[in-house]
Amino acid sequence: MKTVTTLPELRTARAALPDPLGFVPTMGYLHEGHLALVRAAQACCQSVVVSIFVNPAQFGPNEDLAKYPRDIPRDLALLEQAGVNLVWLPTPEVIYPPGFQTWVEVAEVSQPLEGGMRPGHFRGVATVVAKLFNAVGPQFAFFGQKDAQQVAVLRQMVTDLHFPLELVVVPTDREPDGLARSSRNVYLTAEERAQAPALYRALTAAQTAYTAGERDAEALRAAMQAALAAAPLAQVQYVSCAHPRTLAELETIGPEGALLSMAVYFGKTRLIDNLVLQGK
Ligand code: PAJ
Repeated sequence: MKTVTTLPELRTARAALPDPLGFVPTMGYLHEGHLALVRAAQACCQSVVVSIFVNPAQFGPNEDLAKYPRDIPRDLALLEQAGVNLVWLPTPEVIYPPGFQTWVEVAEVSQPLEGGMRPGHFRGVATVVAKLFNAVGPQFAFFGQKDAQQVAVLRQMVTDLHFPLELVVVPTDREPDGLARSSRNVYLTAEERAQAPALYRALTAAQTAYTAGERDAEALRAAMQAALAAAPLAQVQYVSCAHPRTLAELETIGPEGALLSMAVYFGKTRLIDNLVLQGK
């Protein structure tokens, strides 16, 4: 496994790899969810490139950029063991050199949900992913359903900017008790960790109601709120039952189904999760 930092090093190493090439962008502190993306890439590609870059542009001023967990030696060992061909570890100066001034903004689909709570977040995500795509030149790029709105934003960007690649979405990888794996789970205290499966329980409670015939979106939001109320440490930021593509809040769930999603604080740790209700 080769490791590179600069753009010229990346270009040389990438040129030596056979196509089709699969790309997995990450911010590191890797877990089983990231490795599921690597395996999905290996299943359809001749070579796999992973990037690790904690992107300052997607963190708000009061967010956890400085204390975002990092462990590059451990990450590299996991990727080596997984059989990844090339790892790109750019520095902030490589991605945002002095004088940098070009941003990618995906307008509408960036606005609700996470975009509403984290202004500028998706501008930072779209900009860095566009730059990573341009540098790596993959035929396939792999993203987790865990970050459903990120997928929606990047799909729109790939379409609008004619990126010549296919975006592949991988199902959310969960702990045995249902908690979605996340680099941020390490922030949870033992007590918070014990209550954190409430997110998945709330999603499945709403799904059960949907399967039983409930089509009123507010009733599903109420079912999620009720399930979250069972976890005393959970501070709900939002629960949503939205159109699966536009992400606009629904009144009634139609034939296209819905995206159920939520953001919940446990102490200072902000957890997100989601589930797709399939339409007809
Ligand atoms: P990061 O949070 O490191 O996640 C990297 C990729 O792993 C994303 O596509 C994310 O959706 C996926 N992922 C995380 N947890 C997962 C889980 N439990 N199951 C399946 N996939 C999971 O998302 C980012 O980094 C950044 O925004 C990035 C796209 C790298 C741009 O900076």
